[in-house]
Amino acid sequence: MSKDVRWDCRLSGLMYRLLLRMRLIRKSPCVILAVTVPLAVLILHVWSPKFYSVVDIQNRANPADVLDSSCFVPSRKYPHLSFTLNEDVLKLLPRNSCRCEVEPRLASSLQIFGKPFTIQLSEVIPPSELAECNRLRDEEYQKHMQRTQTLADKLIIAPANSPLQYPVQGVEVRPLQTILVPGLKLEDMGQEVYKVTLSATLGTFNIAAVVEDVKVTGAAEMNLALSSAHLDNLNQQLEFVTYTNMVFHPNTADIVQLKSDGHEASFTIKIRHAPTPKLFEPGSSSSDYNISAMVTIATKTFLRYDKLRILINSIRRFYPTITIIIADDSEFPEKVDGPYIEQYFMPFGKGWFAGRNLAISQVTTKYFLWVDDDFIFSTRTKVEKLVDVLEKTTLDLVGGAVREISGFITTFRQMISVHPGGRAGDCLSTEPGYYHVIKGFPNCVVTDGIVNFFLARTDKVLQVGFDPRLRRAAHLEFFIDGLGILHVGSCDDVIVDHASKVKLPWMKNTKEKVYEKFRYPESSDSSIQFKHRLFYFKNRFQCLRHD
Ligand SMILES: *[C@@H]1O[C@H](CO)[C@@H](O)[C@H](O)[C@H]1NC(C)=O
Repeated sequence: MSKDVRWDCRLSGLMYRLLLRMRLIRKSPCVILAVTVPLAVLILHVWSPKFYSVVDIQNRANPADVLDSSCFVPSRKYPHLSFTLNEDVLKLLPRNSCRCEVEPRLASSLQIFGKPFTIQLSEVIPPSELAECNRLRDEEYQKHMQRTQTLADKLIIAPANSPLQYPVQGVEVRPLQTILVPGLKLEDMGQEVYKVTLSATLGTFNIAAVVEDVKVTGAAEMNLALSSAHLDNLNQQLEFVTYTNMVFHPNTADIVQLKSDGHEASFTIKIRHAPTPKLFEPGSSSSDYNISAMVTIATKTFLRYDKLRILINSIRRFYPTITIIIADDSEFPEKVDGPYIEQYFMPFGKGWFAGRNLAISQVTTKYFLWVDDDFIFSTRTKVEKLVDVLEKTTLDLVGGAVREISGFITTFRQMISVHPGGRAGDCLSTEPGYYHVIKGFPNCVVTDGIVNFFLARTDKVLQVGFDPRLRRAAHLEFFIDGLGILHVGSCDDVIVDHASKVKLPWMKNTKEKVYEKFRYPESSDSSIQFKHRLFYFKNRFQCLRHD
């Protein structure tokens, strides 16, 4: 046997274990050989050096010029003009209306639904802790804003290349609330009378101040007309135009038509609630991460209590106070006791994804670390490193590496793409690999799917969920459901050990045999067919391809 062939054979053995781990095959040795030799060649091809770019995905500063609707300072661009503030309209502007006070009108009226009340929430924080609490809250909020804002929120004003100046994007109003419309202006075209009209369909215009020598018609209506013989007066008046959303229909937009002398422009005002942040207290104010306060370890078990106890003991060597959540759907469950352990019992055989869903629904920390019940922590299982990646980048989920008894290390990085396919449905394709290395984290890359060992943002994963219809062999399905929602990374320098799974049949004990009967049922063809049905109907794919 030549050296190369021997190497291929060894690789085939590794591939077989790897594929077993990925629940791809459970067939006879002939099939294995037929499948793994070409696969090994393919893997060799994939492993041949490629040059990936390094991309900076660190949390960025907020776009500085996102429209700040919180303060209104009348502009003094035309100092020679005077104006009178319109108090009725001014009090509708956001900063002026953020106050928790019972309206006098309601305080005295009939109280069918109980007495109106207000609560100042900062009062629940002990005064001695308030300053620190505010500082941490500001810090977490800044990070949240950095993650949720994009350049599409940036305010862009079209310069006056037609005589109309107006905001191209970045104008946003909360449902039924009022904003000043920024950036409106008319350039001089030598008219005798300067006239501008604005029209909308989901709200009305008004003026927050009255400027002399400007005629205003249609205040508090959907069509507003402004005219003046003096351009400066008109432009000063345009600075005071407000928009009030009148139709409660969040996540829509109003299109404003702006016209003057045959010139026309339109721009959108987004109507939406600002997403309510869900911030977590970091548990310490020092620069070191408090892992127990930030991370919960979640796992699902089925019968393998011996393995689970080994996992828990290994975690406790390094993280004595981290909470461990166990979802358990065994037929005859055993109680797993210990501090910081929560075991949830489920109906027998509810399955893999239902268990993940249950475990994750009970997490109360910012992040959770997913582990299989037959993993073992070692000195290389540095959860801090994964926390650092999620704290400093826009990633939602970052995988580590799993080390098999054989020494083989897998990160199972998968790129997933969906190509539009018309009425027949879309085409799904997956291939091993990743897109780019992450700047500042040379061991980490960005991809779409990763191994069963990952740290994730709890709120983002709850948005995707684990489809409980997938009862057995399933993993990549979660990442397919998460496409477009989750930003996924993978680091190969945080490694967890995997208790051996490859055992000769006569060495297995009864429990292991029962486990395998459920985990890899003989009739697995039907479960694969079911999975394909979900792809077809739920995800609306017409086909799938794995390279
Ligand atoms: C870390 O967080 C836990 C849980 O919130 C808390 O009990 C502990 O005191 C914190 N440790 C430090 C060093 O701040």
